Amino acid sequence: MLKPPVPRPLAGRRVLITAGPTHEPIDPVRYIANRSSGKQGFAIAAAAQAVGADVRLIAGPVELADPKGVSVTHVESARQMLEAVEAELPADVAIFAAAVADWRVAHEGGQKLKKTGKAIPPLQLTENPDILATISKLGEKRPGLVIGFAAETEHLIDNAKAKFARKGCDWIVANDVSPATGVMGGDRNTVHLLTKGADGVHVASWPIMTKDEVATALVAEIAKKLNKELT
Ligand code: CTP
Ligand code: CA
Repeated sequence: MLKPPVPRPLAGRRVLITAGPTHEPIDPVRYIANRSSGKQGFAIAAAAQAVGADVRLIAGPVELADPKGVSVTHVESARQMLEAVEAELPADVAIFAAAVADWRVAHEGGQKLKKTGKAIPPLQLTENPDILATISKLGEKRPGLVIGFAAETEHLIDNAKAKFARKGCDWIVANDVSPATGVMGGDRNTVHLLTKGADGVHVASWPIMTKDEVATALVAEIAKKLNKELT
């Protein structure tokens, strides 16, 4: 017997996703990094691909297999990530799940820094480009739906609302990344979807779910929004 066809509500849509940490070089052998595993972004890529989207995943250094049927660009640094994102535009939807390093070393060493005799080297930092804010502010090439994440360890909703106002994106997925939650590196996530309602920011608090379930639910919301705009 034939199986019923899988619904493909994102068929014909290009979905761009960033995921994972970035690595910011200090010298040829050292870097600044963070604890992001990339699992949530990869799960979103797989979920969007499963419902027909043409998915372009820009991934920082992660220990995950490329999701099937997804075009993946592997990068290391925030600047490389921004360049790779720009190369994939235009897109219908962009989801910025990466934990981009906020700072990089101002003067990267061309050779391995040595401890011989000298004082401890000070690491002077400089700010990385904000990929989400950059893409949110694009004119013609801005994706129709731009979604950011807000990783917070305290005052989750207040901080996420402030970030929402600052970034210029359309939705924010807020999550608590305090060590006790196990979100960083773990398989579960508790998220709040912030959208803009007629009377201000609307917060939908989802129950704790696996990262795969969060991905499926987020992709369903995206499909609902895009297909409503069509009718
Ligand atoms: N982001 C980005 N480029 C950066 C920093 C952040 O694209 N250089 C994106 C993240 O992918 C996420 C959103 O911006 O979608 C929020 O990231 P977050 O680290 O929570 O916020 P920041 O604005 O960097 O503020 P802070 O780290 O101080 O909370
Ligand atoms: Ca940050």
